Amino acid sequence: MGKATLSGKGRRWVLGGHPWIYRDDIAGGEAESGELIQVEDPAGNSLGWGLFSSTSKIALRLVTRQPVQPKREFWLERVQRAVQARERMGFLNPRGACRLIAADADRIPGWIVDLYGTTAVVQSSIQGSDRMRDFLVELLEAALPFKLDCIVDRSDSSVRRFEDLDSRVEILKGQVTEGLEVHEDDLVYEVDVLNGHKTGHYLDQRLNRQLAAREAQGKRVLDAFCYDGLFGVRAAMAGAEDVLCLDQSGPAGERVLRNAERNGVAHKLRFEKANCMQALRNLKSEGHSFDIAIVDPPAFARNRREISGAERGYVELNRRALALLEAGGLLVSASCSYNVRASAFVKFLASAGRLAERDVWLEELRGASPDHPQLLAVPETAYLKCAFLRAL
Ligand SMILES: C[S@@+](CC[C@H](N)C(=O)[O-])C[C@H]1O[C@@H](n2cnc3c(N)ncnc32)[C@H](O)[C@@H]1O
Repeated sequence: MGKATLSGKGRRWVLGGHPWIYRDDIAGGEAESGELIQVEDPAGNSLGWGLFSSTSKIALRLVTRQPVQPKREFWLERVQRAVQARERMGFLNPRGACRLIAADADRIPGWIVDLYGTTAVVQSSIQGSDRMRDFLVELLEAALPFKLDCIVDRSDSSVRRFEDLDSRVEILKGQVTEGLEVHEDDLVYEVDVLNGHKTGHYLDQRLNRQLAAREAQGKRVLDAFCYDGLFGVRAAMAGAEDVLCLDQSGPAGERVLRNAERNGVAHKLRFEKANCMQALRNLKSEGHSFDIAIVDPPAFARNRREISGAERGYVELNRRALALLEAGGLLVSASCSYNVRASAFVKFLASAGRLAERDVWLEELRGASPDHPQLLAVPETAYLKCAFLRAL
Protein backbone atom coordinates (compact mmCIF):
# COMPACT_ATOMS: atom_id res chain seq x y z
CA MET A 1 0.00 0.00 0.00
CA GLY A 2 1.35 3.45 -0.93
CA LYS A 3 2.09 6.31 1.39
CA ALA A 4 3.23 9.94 1.10
CA THR A 5 5.25 12.05 3.52
CA LEU A 6 4.78 15.80 3.20
CA SER A 7 7.38 18.52 3.59
CA GLY A 8 6.98 21.03 6.45
CA LYS A 9 5.43 23.46 3.95
CA GLY A 10 3.04 20.75 2.76
CA ARG A 11 2.02 20.02 6.36
CA ARG A 12 1.29 23.72 7.02
CA TRP A 13 -0.76 23.91 3.80
CA VAL A 14 -2.86 20.89 4.79
CA LEU A 15 -3.43 22.26 8.28
CA GLY A 16 -4.58 25.53 6.61
CA GLY A 17 -7.63 23.65 5.33
CA HIS A 18 -7.29 23.18 1.55
CA PRO A 19 -7.43 19.45 0.69
CA TRP A 20 -5.30 19.61 -2.49
CA ILE A 21 -1.59 18.89 -2.10
CA TYR A 22 0.87 19.92 -4.78
CA ARG A 23 3.69 17.63 -5.93
CA ASP A 24 6.39 20.03 -4.68
CA ASP A 25 5.03 19.60 -1.14
CA ILE A 26 5.62 15.84 -1.09
CA ALA A 27 8.97 14.91 0.48
CA GLY A 28 8.83 11.14 0.05
CA GLY A 29 6.86 7.92 -0.33
CA GLU A 30 5.43 6.03 -3.28
CA ALA A 31 2.03 5.12 -4.66
CA GLU A 32 0.24 3.79 -7.74
CA SER A 33 -1.81 6.02 -10.05
CA GLY A 34 -5.17 6.80 -8.44
CA GLU A 35 -4.39 4.92 -5.23
CA LEU A 36 -5.95 5.94 -1.92
CA ILE A 37 -2.98 6.40 0.42
CA GLN A 38 -2.14 7.54 3.92
CA VAL A 39 -0.59 11.01 4.16
CA GLU A 40 1.93 11.80 6.89
CA ASP A 41 3.72 14.84 8.21
CA PRO A 42 7.57 14.90 8.32
CA ALA A 43 7.48 13.35 11.82
CA GLY A 44 5.37 10.38 10.64
CA ASN A 45 2.07 11.54 12.17
CA SER A 46 -1.02 10.82 10.07
CA LEU A 47 -2.61 13.82 8.30
CA GLY A 48 -5.33 11.66 6.77
CA TRP A 49 -5.94 9.79 3.49
CA GLY A 50 -5.84 11.09 -0.05
CA LEU A 51 -6.15 10.06 -3.69
CA PHE A 52 -2.81 10.08 -5.50
CA SER A 53 -2.22 11.27 -9.06
CA SER A 54 1.01 10.26 -10.77
CA THR A 55 0.88 13.10 -13.33
CA SER A 56 -1.15 16.11 -12.18
CA LYS A 57 0.41 19.10 -10.40
CA ILE A 58 -2.21 18.33 -7.75
CA ALA A 59 -0.57 15.12 -6.58
CA LEU A 60 -2.95 14.36 -3.72
CA ARG A 61 -6.54 15.20 -2.84
CA LEU A 62 -7.27 14.54 0.82
CA VAL A 63 -10.59 12.80 1.39
CA THR A 64 -10.37 12.61 5.18
CA ARG A 65 -8.21 13.99 7.98
CA GLN A 66 -8.92 10.92 10.13
CA PRO A 67 -6.16 8.27 10.51
CA VAL A 68 -8.54 5.37 9.80
CA GLN A 69 -8.43 3.98 6.25
CA PRO A 70 -11.66 4.82 4.33
CA LYS A 71 -13.55 1.65 3.39
CA ARG A 72 -16.93 0.97 1.75
CA GLU A 73 -19.00 2.46 4.63
CA PHE A 74 -17.04 5.72 4.44
CA TRP A 75 -17.74 6.18 0.72
CA LEU A 76 -21.35 5.04 1.02
CA GLU A 77 -21.89 7.68 3.71
CA ARG A 78 -20.47 10.37 1.37
CA VAL A 79 -22.80 9.33 -1.45
CA GLN A 80 -25.79 9.10 0.89
CA ARG A 81 -25.06 12.57 2.28
CA ALA A 82 -25.03 13.99 -1.27
CA VAL A 83 -28.32 12.26 -2.11
CA GLN A 84 -29.98 13.45 1.11
CA ALA A 85 -28.86 17.03 0.46
CA ARG A 86 -30.51 17.06 -3.00
CA GLU A 87 -33.62 15.50 -1.49
CA ARG A 88 -33.72 18.26 1.15
CA MET A 89 -33.37 20.89 -1.61
CA GLY A 90 -36.39 19.39 -3.36
CA PHE A 91 -34.28 18.50 -6.42
CA LEU A 92 -34.42 14.71 -6.25
CA ASN A 93 -37.21 13.55 -8.52
CA PRO A 94 -37.30 10.65 -11.01
CA ARG A 95 -38.77 13.00 -13.65
CA GLY A 96 -36.51 15.98 -12.84
CA ALA A 97 -32.80 16.73 -13.02
CA CYS A 98 -30.06 17.72 -10.61
CA ARG A 99 -26.36 17.54 -9.91
CA LEU A 100 -26.32 14.69 -7.44
CA ILE A 101 -22.60 14.60 -6.74
CA ALA A 102 -20.43 17.67 -7.30
CA ALA A 103 -16.91 16.20 -6.99
CA ASP A 104 -14.71 18.08 -4.47
CA ALA A 105 -17.71 19.98 -3.09
CA ASP A 106 -19.28 16.64 -2.08
CA ARG A 107 -15.84 15.43 -0.95
CA ILE A 108 -15.60 12.76 -3.64
CA PRO A 109 -12.76 14.28 -5.69
CA GLY A 110 -13.04 14.14 -9.47
CA TRP A 111 -16.50 12.49 -9.44
CA ILE A 112 -19.59 14.19 -10.88
CA VAL A 113 -23.02 12.60 -11.16
CA ASP A 114 -25.87 14.39 -12.92
CA LEU A 115 -29.35 12.89 -12.90
CA TYR A 116 -31.77 13.35 -15.78
CA GLY A 117 -34.90 11.49 -14.80
CA THR A 118 -33.84 7.89 -14.25
CA THR A 119 -30.72 8.35 -16.39
CA ALA A 120 -27.51 9.08 -14.48
CA VAL A 121 -24.52 10.60 -16.23
CA VAL A 122 -21.24 10.09 -14.38
CA GLN A 123 -18.06 11.98 -15.13
CA SER A 124 -14.64 11.14 -13.73
CA SER A 125 -11.79 13.64 -14.07
CA ILE A 126 -8.90 12.27 -11.97
CA GLN A 127 -7.01 9.00 -11.65
CA GLY A 128 -8.49 8.36 -8.19
CA SER A 129 -12.13 8.56 -9.33
CA ASP A 130 -11.28 6.53 -12.46
CA ARG A 131 -9.83 3.74 -10.36
CA MET A 132 -12.96 3.72 -8.16
CA ARG A 133 -15.48 4.18 -11.00
CA ASP A 134 -17.28 0.84 -10.85
CA PHE A 135 -17.37 0.93 -7.05
CA LEU A 136 -18.79 4.50 -7.05
CA VAL A 137 -21.44 3.49 -9.60
CA GLU A 138 -22.43 0.58 -7.35
CA LEU A 139 -22.75 2.99 -4.37
CA LEU A 140 -24.82 5.40 -6.46
CA GLU A 141 -27.38 2.70 -7.21
CA ALA A 142 -27.38 1.63 -3.55
CA ALA A 143 -27.98 5.17 -2.25
CA LEU A 144 -30.73 6.37 -4.61
CA PRO A 145 -34.36 6.00 -3.53
CA PHE A 146 -35.40 5.04 -7.10
CA LYS A 147 -34.08 2.67 -9.76
CA LEU A 148 -31.85 3.93 -12.57
CA ASP A 149 -32.77 2.75 -16.06
CA CYS A 150 -29.61 4.02 -17.69
CA ILE A 151 -26.09 5.00 -16.60
CA VAL A 152 -23.74 6.79 -18.98
CA ASP A 153 -20.05 7.50 -18.36
CA ARG A 154 -19.26 10.86 -20.02
CA SER A 155 -15.63 11.04 -18.91
CA ASP A 156 -14.62 13.17 -21.87
CA SER A 157 -13.73 16.50 -20.29
CA SER A 158 -10.47 18.13 -21.36
CA VAL A 159 -9.09 18.25 -17.78
CA ARG A 160 -8.43 14.50 -17.99
CA ARG A 161 -5.29 15.28 -19.99
CA PHE A 162 -3.61 16.58 -16.81
CA GLU A 163 -4.12 13.11 -15.35
CA ASP A 164 -2.91 11.30 -18.48
CA LEU A 165 -6.38 9.78 -18.88
CA ASP A 166 -8.05 9.12 -22.24
CA SER A 167 -11.44 10.49 -23.15
CA ARG A 168 -14.21 7.92 -22.56
CA VAL A 169 -17.92 7.76 -23.37
CA GLU A 170 -19.57 4.48 -22.38
CA ILE A 171 -23.08 3.28 -21.64
CA LEU A 172 -22.73 1.33 -18.39
CA LYS A 173 -26.36 0.30 -18.01
CA GLY A 174 -29.53 0.21 -20.11
CA GLN A 175 -30.16 2.33 -23.19
CA VAL A 176 -30.15 6.07 -23.72
CA THR A 177 -33.63 7.36 -24.52
CA GLU A 178 -33.64 9.47 -27.67
CA GLY A 179 -35.10 12.91 -26.94
CA LEU A 180 -34.74 12.28 -23.19
CA GLU A 181 -37.15 14.66 -21.41
CA VAL A 182 -36.73 16.33 -18.04
CA HIS A 183 -39.50 18.04 -16.07
CA GLU A 184 -38.71 21.05 -13.88
CA ASP A 185 -41.85 22.56 -12.38
CA ASP A 186 -43.98 23.40 -15.43
CA LEU A 187 -40.99 23.38 -17.82
CA VAL A 188 -40.15 20.34 -19.98
CA TYR A 189 -36.84 20.14 -21.82
CA GLU A 190 -34.71 17.74 -23.79
CA VAL A 191 -31.21 16.57 -22.89
CA ASP A 192 -28.63 14.94 -25.14
CA VAL A 193 -26.54 13.00 -22.63
CA LEU A 194 -24.21 11.48 -25.24
CA ASN A 195 -23.33 14.55 -27.32
CA GLY A 196 -24.50 17.62 -25.38
CA HIS A 197 -22.11 19.90 -23.51
CA LYS A 198 -20.83 18.78 -20.09
CA THR A 199 -23.07 15.86 -19.09
CA GLY A 200 -25.74 17.11 -21.49
CA HIS A 201 -27.02 20.25 -19.81
CA TYR A 202 -26.12 23.36 -17.75
CA LEU A 203 -27.89 22.46 -14.51
CA ASP A 204 -26.15 25.23 -12.57
CA GLN A 205 -28.31 28.02 -14.08
CA ARG A 206 -31.64 26.50 -13.02
CA LEU A 207 -32.63 29.07 -10.37
CA ASN A 208 -31.10 32.02 -12.23
CA ARG A 209 -33.33 31.20 -15.22
CA GLN A 210 -36.39 31.23 -13.00
CA LEU A 211 -35.39 34.59 -11.49
CA ALA A 212 -34.63 36.16 -14.86
CA ALA A 213 -38.15 35.23 -15.99
CA ARG A 214 -39.77 37.04 -13.01
CA GLU A 215 -40.26 40.29 -14.92
CA ALA A 216 -40.60 38.93 -18.46
CA GLN A 217 -44.32 39.64 -18.90
CA GLY A 218 -44.79 41.65 -22.10
CA LYS A 219 -41.01 42.13 -22.61
CA ARG A 220 -38.59 41.69 -25.50
CA VAL A 221 -35.84 39.28 -24.47
CA LEU A 222 -32.40 38.46 -25.85
CA ASP A 223 -30.86 35.12 -24.73
CA ALA A 224 -27.25 35.20 -25.94
CA PHE A 225 -25.06 32.06 -25.64
CA CYS A 226 -28.37 30.28 -25.08
CA TYR A 227 -27.32 26.60 -25.50
CA ASP A 228 -30.70 24.78 -25.21
CA GLY A 229 -32.47 28.12 -24.81
CA LEU A 230 -33.88 27.65 -21.33
CA PHE A 231 -33.41 31.26 -20.18
CA GLY A 232 -35.42 32.23 -23.27
CA VAL A 233 -38.03 29.47 -22.98
CA ARG A 234 -38.58 30.30 -19.29
CA ALA A 235 -39.00 33.99 -20.18
CA ALA A 236 -41.46 33.15 -22.97
CA MET A 237 -43.45 30.92 -20.60
CA ALA A 238 -43.58 33.82 -18.13
CA GLY A 239 -45.25 36.01 -20.74
CA ALA A 240 -42.41 37.60 -22.75
CA GLU A 241 -43.69 39.06 -25.99
CA ASP A 242 -40.72 38.14 -28.17
CA VAL A 243 -37.54 36.11 -27.48
CA LEU A 244 -34.42 35.95 -29.61
CA CYS A 245 -32.01 33.09 -28.78
CA LEU A 246 -28.45 33.08 -30.13
CA ASP A 247 -25.76 30.40 -30.05
CA GLN A 248 -23.03 29.13 -32.36
CA SER A 249 -24.12 25.50 -31.91
CA GLY A 250 -26.49 24.15 -34.57
CA PRO A 251 -27.57 21.02 -32.59
CA ALA A 252 -28.28 23.23 -29.55
CA GLY A 253 -30.39 25.48 -31.78
CA GLU A 254 -32.49 22.50 -32.90
CA ARG A 255 -33.11 21.62 -29.24
CA VAL A 256 -34.04 25.27 -28.50
CA LEU A 257 -36.81 25.08 -31.09
CA ARG A 258 -38.02 21.68 -29.88
CA ASN A 259 -37.98 22.95 -26.27
CA ALA A 260 -40.01 26.00 -27.30
CA GLU A 261 -42.48 23.71 -29.10
CA ARG A 262 -42.81 21.37 -26.10
CA ASN A 263 -43.63 24.30 -23.82
CA GLY A 264 -46.10 25.97 -26.18
CA VAL A 265 -44.04 29.11 -26.84
CA ALA A 266 -42.62 28.43 -30.33
CA HIS A 267 -44.72 31.25 -31.85
CA LYS A 268 -42.78 33.94 -29.95
CA LEU A 269 -39.25 32.50 -29.82
CA ARG A 270 -36.65 32.58 -32.59
CA PHE A 271 -33.22 30.96 -32.74
CA GLU A 272 -30.33 32.28 -34.79
CA LYS A 273 -27.05 30.41 -35.18
CA ALA A 274 -24.49 33.15 -34.70
CA ASN A 275 -21.27 34.33 -33.15
CA CYS A 276 -22.74 36.34 -30.28
CA MET A 277 -19.98 38.96 -30.11
CA GLN A 278 -20.63 39.88 -33.73
CA ALA A 279 -24.40 39.42 -33.49
CA LEU A 280 -24.72 41.85 -30.56
CA ARG A 281 -22.86 44.49 -32.54
CA ASN A 282 -25.08 43.87 -35.60
CA LEU A 283 -28.29 44.06 -33.56
CA LYS A 284 -27.26 47.48 -32.32
CA SER A 285 -26.33 48.81 -35.75
CA GLU A 286 -29.65 47.51 -37.12
CA GLY A 287 -31.48 49.54 -34.44
CA HIS A 288 -32.80 46.67 -32.27
CA SER A 289 -33.31 47.00 -28.52
CA PHE A 290 -34.44 44.72 -25.68
CA ASP A 291 -35.96 44.96 -22.20
CA ILE A 292 -34.05 41.93 -20.89
CA ALA A 293 -30.71 40.57 -22.11
CA ILE A 294 -29.01 37.42 -20.87
CA VAL A 295 -25.33 36.81 -21.67
CA ASP A 296 -23.97 33.47 -20.48
CA PRO A 297 -20.73 32.82 -22.39
CA PRO A 298 -18.33 29.87 -21.98
CA ALA A 299 -15.40 30.35 -19.59
CA PHE A 300 -13.15 33.08 -21.04
CA ALA A 301 -10.31 32.31 -18.56
CA ARG A 302 -9.52 28.60 -18.30
CA ASN A 303 -6.33 29.35 -16.35
CA ARG A 304 -4.67 32.30 -14.60
CA ARG A 305 -2.66 33.28 -17.70
CA GLU A 306 -5.92 33.95 -19.56
CA ILE A 307 -7.38 36.40 -17.02
CA SER A 308 -6.34 39.62 -18.74
CA GLY A 309 -7.68 38.44 -22.11
CA ALA A 310 -10.85 37.35 -20.33
CA GLU A 311 -11.22 40.82 -18.80
CA ARG A 312 -11.23 42.37 -22.27
CA GLY A 313 -13.81 39.79 -23.42
CA TYR A 314 -16.18 40.28 -20.47
CA VAL A 315 -15.96 44.07 -20.65
CA GLU A 316 -16.64 44.22 -24.38
CA LEU A 317 -19.42 41.63 -24.32
CA ASN A 318 -21.25 43.37 -21.49
CA ARG A 319 -20.71 46.80 -23.06
CA ARG A 320 -22.43 45.52 -26.21
CA ALA A 321 -25.26 43.94 -24.20
CA LEU A 322 -25.84 47.14 -22.18
CA ALA A 323 -25.94 49.16 -25.38
CA LEU A 324 -28.93 47.07 -26.52
CA LEU A 325 -31.03 47.64 -23.41
CA GLU A 326 -33.87 50.12 -23.00
CA ALA A 327 -33.68 52.45 -19.96
CA GLY A 328 -34.58 50.35 -16.92
CA GLY A 329 -33.72 47.14 -18.76
CA LEU A 330 -32.34 44.03 -17.03
CA LEU A 331 -28.98 42.50 -17.92
CA VAL A 332 -28.35 39.00 -16.56
CA SER A 333 -24.64 38.45 -17.03
CA ALA A 334 -22.82 35.25 -16.13
CA SER A 335 -19.22 34.09 -15.90
CA CYS A 336 -18.31 30.46 -15.29
CA SER A 337 -14.52 31.10 -15.20
CA TYR A 338 -13.46 30.14 -11.70
CA ASN A 339 -10.20 31.99 -12.27
CA VAL A 340 -12.23 35.22 -12.38
CA ARG A 341 -13.30 35.92 -8.80
CA ALA A 342 -16.65 37.59 -8.08
CA SER A 343 -15.03 40.89 -7.11
CA ALA A 344 -13.05 41.00 -10.38
CA PHE A 345 -16.18 40.17 -12.40
CA VAL A 346 -18.06 43.06 -10.79
CA LYS A 347 -15.15 45.37 -11.70
CA PHE A 348 -15.37 44.20 -15.33
CA LEU A 349 -19.11 44.91 -15.32
CA ALA A 350 -18.48 48.40 -13.94
CA SER A 351 -16.02 49.06 -16.79
CA ALA A 352 -18.61 47.83 -19.28
CA GLY A 353 -21.16 50.28 -17.82
CA ARG A 354 -18.69 53.15 -18.08
CA LEU A 355 -17.82 52.33 -21.69
CA ALA A 356 -21.50 51.96 -22.60
CA GLU A 357 -22.14 55.33 -20.90
CA ARG A 358 -24.84 53.77 -18.72
CA ASP A 359 -25.35 53.95 -14.98
CA VAL A 360 -25.86 50.42 -13.75
CA TRP A 361 -27.25 48.96 -10.53
CA LEU A 362 -26.06 45.60 -9.30
CA GLU A 363 -29.35 44.21 -7.97
CA GLU A 364 -28.18 40.68 -7.16
CA LEU A 365 -24.96 38.73 -7.47
CA ARG A 366 -25.82 35.07 -7.51
CA GLY A 367 -23.99 31.79 -7.92
CA ALA A 368 -24.95 28.32 -9.08
CA SER A 369 -28.04 26.43 -7.93
CA PRO A 370 -27.59 24.84 -4.49
CA ASP A 371 -27.10 21.35 -5.94
CA HIS A 372 -23.67 22.76 -6.96
CA PRO A 373 -22.58 23.65 -3.40
CA GLN A 374 -19.39 25.52 -2.59
CA LEU A 375 -17.00 23.79 -0.21
CA LEU A 376 -15.54 26.81 1.58
CA ALA A 377 -12.10 25.21 1.95
CA VAL A 378 -11.95 24.84 -1.86
CA PRO A 379 -12.57 28.23 -3.52
CA GLU A 380 -12.38 26.47 -6.90
CA THR A 381 -15.87 25.04 -6.21
CA ALA A 382 -17.33 28.60 -6.43
CA TYR A 383 -17.01 29.07 -10.17
CA LEU A 384 -20.30 30.56 -11.39
CA LYS A 385 -21.17 34.24 -11.00
CA CYS A 386 -24.50 35.51 -12.30
CA ALA A 387 -25.09 39.25 -11.95
CA PHE A 388 -28.57 40.81 -12.21
CA LEU A 389 -27.91 44.35 -13.41
CA ARG A 390 -30.29 47.25 -14.03
CA ALA A 391 -29.29 49.55 -16.90
CA LEU A 392 -30.55 53.02 -15.93
C1 LIG B 1 -22.33 28.46 -20.61
S1 LIG B 1 -23.08 27.85 -22.04
C2 LIG B 1 -24.64 28.62 -22.02
C3 LIG B 1 -25.65 27.94 -21.13
C4 LIG B 1 -27.07 28.42 -21.33
N1 LIG B 1 -27.21 29.83 -21.14
C5 LIG B 1 -28.03 27.68 -20.42
O1 LIG B 1 -28.73 28.31 -19.62
O2 LIG B 1 -28.09 26.44 -20.53
C6 LIG B 1 -22.21 28.71 -23.30
C7 LIG B 1 -22.77 28.57 -24.71
O3 LIG B 1 -22.06 29.48 -25.54
C8 LIG B 1 -21.96 28.93 -26.83
N2 LIG B 1 -20.88 29.70 -27.50
C9 LIG B 1 -19.54 29.68 -27.25
N3 LIG B 1 -18.92 30.64 -27.94
C10 LIG B 1 -19.88 31.29 -28.66
C11 LIG B 1 -19.87 32.38 -29.56
N4 LIG B 1 -18.74 33.04 -29.85
N5 LIG B 1 -21.04 32.78 -30.11
C12 LIG B 1 -22.18 32.12 -29.82
N6 LIG B 1 -22.26 31.09 -28.97
C13 LIG B 1 -21.13 30.68 -28.40
C14 LIG B 1 -21.74 27.46 -26.62
O4 LIG B 1 -22.18 26.73 -27.76
C15 LIG B 1 -22.62 27.21 -25.36
O5 LIG B 1 -23.88 26.77 -25.76
